[in-house]
Amino acid sequence: MAAAIASGLNKAQQATQSVSSKDKKIVDVSRDTVDAHSHEPQTTDHGVRIENPDNWLKVADGRKTGPSLLEDQIAREKIHRFDHERIPERVVHARGTGAFGNFTLYESAEDVSHAGILTDTSRNTPVFIRFSTVQGSRGSADTVRDVRGFAVKFYTDEGNWDIVGNNIPVFFIQDSIKFPDFVHAVKPEPHNEVPQAQTAHNNFWDFVYLHPEATHMFMWAMSDRAIPRSYRMMQGFGVNTYTLINKEGKRHFVKFHFIPNLGVHSLVWDEALKLAGQDPDFHRKDLMEAIDSGAYPQWDFAIQTIPEEKEHDFDFDILDATKVWPEDLVPLRRIGKLELNRNVDEFFPQTEQAAFCTSHIVPGIDFSDDPLLQGRNFSYFDTQISRLGINWEELPINRPVCPMMNFNRDGAMRHRISKGTVNYWPNRFEALPPAKAEEGAFTSYPEKISGIKKRALSEKFRDHHTQAQMFYNSMSEHEKAHIKKALTFELDHCDDPIVYERLAGTRLAEIDLNLAQQVAELVGAPIPQKQLMPNPGHRAKGLSQTEFPPEKPTIASRRIAILIGDGYDQVAFTGMKMAIKAAGALPFVIGTKRSPIYAQGQSPENSKGVIADHMYDGQRSTMFDATFIPGGSHVTALSKNGQLRFWIVESFGHLKAIGATGEACDLVNQVLGKVLDIRLATPTSTECVEWYGVVTAGSTKPESFKESFQIAKAAKDFVGQFFYQIAQHRNYQRELDGLSAALDW
Ligand code: HEM
Repeated sequence: MAAAIASGLNKAQQATQSVSSKDKKIVDVSRDTVDAHSHEPQTTDHGVRIENPDNWLKVADGRKTGPSLLEDQIAREKIHRFDHERIPERVVHARGTGAFGNFTLYESAEDVSHAGILTDTSRNTPVFIRFSTVQGSRGSADTVRDVRGFAVKFYTDEGNWDIVGNNIPVFFIQDSIKFPDFVHAVKPEPHNEVPQAQTAHNNFWDFVYLHPEATHMFMWAMSDRAIPRSYRMMQGFGVNTYTLINKEGKRHFVKFHFIPNLGVHSLVWDEALKLAGQDPDFHRKDLMEAIDSGAYPQWDFAIQTIPEEKEHDFDFDILDATKVWPEDLVPLRRIGKLELNRNVDEFFPQTEQAAFCTSHIVPGIDFSDDPLLQGRNFSYFDTQISRLGINWEELPINRPVCPMMNFNRDGAMRHRISKGTVNYWPNRFEALPPAKAEEGAFTSYPEKISGIKKRALSEKFRDHHTQAQMFYNSMSEHEKAHIKKALTFELDHCDDPIVYERLAGTRLAEIDLNLAQQVAELVGAPIPQKQLMPNPGHRAKGLSQTEFPPEKPTIASRRIAILIGDGYDQVAFTGMKMAIKAAGALPFVIGTKRSPIYAQGQSPENSKGVIADHMYDGQRSTMFDATFIPGGSHVTALSKNGQLRFWIVESFGHLKAIGATGEACDLVNQVLGKVLDIRLATPTSTECVEWYGVVTAGSTKPESFKESFQIAKAAKDFVGQFFYQIAQHRNYQRELDGLSAALDW
């Protein structure tokens, strides 16, 4: 019997090894995947072919419809199944979306870890990622101000490893016992279930005031990090401190980071608010669209490590999740690459049922005494039981790709059938023996621990303002302005004076007096007169997201709207569309209608016209990164259309690049020049003019749109200039110089 079981195990191992050249997760999941487009007949769940799925069995004749019969087991099955389609949504991070990809190493980290995934540079490890918001329910909008979840499941050869992180490197609380209070406070208030997916309410700000440890994190949550442009343009952080163990048994503390190749970019607040209504699925669609179009999102994977003996060398406690490890003290080491390249086939089984656990680690990685992590290690497994049931790890999305064998048994919805006569260890067959460390078994680091049993944290956990100040000091000018605006927006939504008065008058005055005074005045709190905690002006590298541009300016995967109506300039239109595609971006033709639109000089007699992707009323400028308007006689009609004029104003207000050629320069001038002292090319001039990210060129020729453009600041040609402005993501100078505020949008 032992031999039989061992040979079963071997077969499973061989099966896994024989597919090593392919993505093991694809192979693994394929045995549970069916083709819903097949032309095989429909059946009941017990496999009987169905004759008529559209009519309930009735007493009826040609003239009269009589009662429906309870006997109809086929109809009953269909309704039963429907009645039970929903499972509880996650208590937090309920709104999310996922994708598959791969992880590879640039270099081995064997000096700090013996984990296969961190040392074997020949491996290609399948991954699944779920991005999420924290506060909202499953149907809430994507673009709300919130922390984003960044949960990664690595299907390694030694078992699943989950990094259940966020896009912000610190957290609101230090000890996990506070998590239920925190989540209750951040979620809609209990008496009226309002507001949905927002921190802008009394209870959240009351909680963070009463927990000074939340100060650092709320400053991050008020920054642009909380309104990302895309999941593809955010950093990911493991947040908690884990440990790495190398072959010699030496231990390092570690923080995990993911840095996006496209740079770290955000929406502007007005845009985020509008998108929440105009396109609540903005982020999930953006991710799917990028993957479908081959613009695979990529991140560098980096580690920060501290040798065990240096644990106490810092002013802060390195186990405190409300602190970053400043990069100037602990450098980042980029060791790997994560790429997302495959969308899920079906949302529910692959994303809704995906379940992560901070306690899922593999040999070579271990926990630390981080008090937030310790509680999380209990919480995730526990919550999966209530959401999915005790056999949740058997679900295809959750199961490992390496052999998995043990004597855990039974429970609701057990799927696996284990052959054999024993289900315990030790047994007389020596079936399923444990392994030794040298055979790949997980062994805990033999840490020596002593102390006094008490409900307390070490003293260094008590400094709550130093890093909050450092974060604010490190922001660029426009980031500081956005934090101020976010705080005033949020506190304006609090109607209990004790909440906004204490927050603005005390907590903010501990960070930065100037900020506190401005916010207090705007929200109607007494204006604080002195800085309550000295701010020595420390800054740190890597906190401002302006430090994370892409390596080279790129517009890859950016959504660019081309506005046209009958009479557009065909040369500029076609040339720009081709150039956008050549640069790896996505052109969207937004027309005055979605039936044929004809270029200047064309008509139904000599042309089929162009079919726009959308008509302007179905879309908004918020859904695009930039707008281009070709010249041509269509400008006369466009300039009479208030919605299209607003499109240009709003794009300017949201700091986006705008490009126009020929007669369209006049349109831009008409719209923006009324209020601003704008500098543009004239429709007849040959020069290309760039003014605060508005790029215009008068006359253009086919060669103006050649594919050999260079996206660079010094570019002289229209395409190079326009694309460079798009690559800058936004023109924040417009805002700093008061231009965007001068327009009505
Ligand atoms: C460092 C701080 C934390 C981070 C970065 C974090 C991150 C996350 C993420 C990314 C998810 C969503 C996972 C998914 O996509 O399915 C999640 C869910 C969850 N978190 Fe946390 N969390 C933190 C703290 C905590 C704490 C302290 C607790 C409880 C003690 C907790 C309990 C939960 C629960 C219950 C879920 C729902 C899981 C599910 O139903 O699948 N989290 N968290």
